[in-house]
Amino acid sequence: MSEKSALPVNVGIIMDGNGRWAKKRLLPRSAGHDAGMKRIIKLVRHACEIGVKYLTLYALSTENLSRPKEELEGLYNLFRTYFEKYAPELLKENSAVKVIGDLSALPEDVAEKMRSICSRSPENPQFTVVFAVNYGSRAEIVRAANFACELGGKMTEQSFSRLLYTADMPDPDFIIRTGGELRLSNFLLWQAAYAELYFTDVLFPDFTDKHFDKAIKDFCGRTRRFGKV
Ligand code: IPE
Ligand code: IPE
Ligand code: MG
Repeated sequence: MSEKSALPVNVGIIMDGNGRWAKKRLLPRSAGHDAGMKRIIKLVRHACEIGVKYLTLYALSTENLSRPKEELEGLYNLFRTYFEKYAPELLKENSAVKVIGDLSALPEDVAEKMRSICSRSPENPQFTVVFAVNYGSRAEIVRAANFACELGGKMTEQSFSRLLYTADMPDPDFIIRTGGELRLSNFLLWQAAYAELYFTDVLFPDFTDKHFDKAIKDFCGRTRRFGKV
């Protein structure tokens, strides 16, 4: 008999649609990113409350780094503000923050703020929010392949996984993409091998806790076979 899925352990969100949300309101794109940040804070709270263990948020892709300088500066300013203001909340009650991606391309103070909040995280948290910042799966896989070459010898799937940014995390079992596009845009390609995918037209700043619950309910109703009969 087939088993329905329990609550996902690691939910990934491709938080897309901030720019269109702003455009619809005749606002600058930065207003969409700001509204997206506000939503992140609430969703983190909610995901933790309902018992999800990891929330992995795609905040900036390697490809996004080719956006206009003003948009990137605006995003970096938001990272500065929100990581400063919400650090105590993100780290409260045995919660941890992790960042995956190449921070070296970010302004040094932004990278430092992110490293600092990660380093203040507890060792065995009950809940972890993972921010993917200047993250790209292909870059991550190539980086891991280079480590593997340096180590020499043969790799297994397990030993290769341990060379990725996500080494100590479970693979995402559920990936949600807001904003209507039907693609992964270089997000967790290796780790998503068996993730359930969920696409919604809702633009990220409009993606409420209720929309999140609806997605989770959808996941819980799915049968995951992992290749078996
Ligand atoms: C996603 O929203 C946030 C980032 C990529 C930083 P977009 O900025 O891609 O919003 P749209 O897709 O233009 O609406
Ligand atoms: C994906 O959104 C990246 C993030 C949400 C951070 P994009 O808006 O950059 O993706 P594409 O360009 O539509 O594939
Ligand atoms: Mg987009």
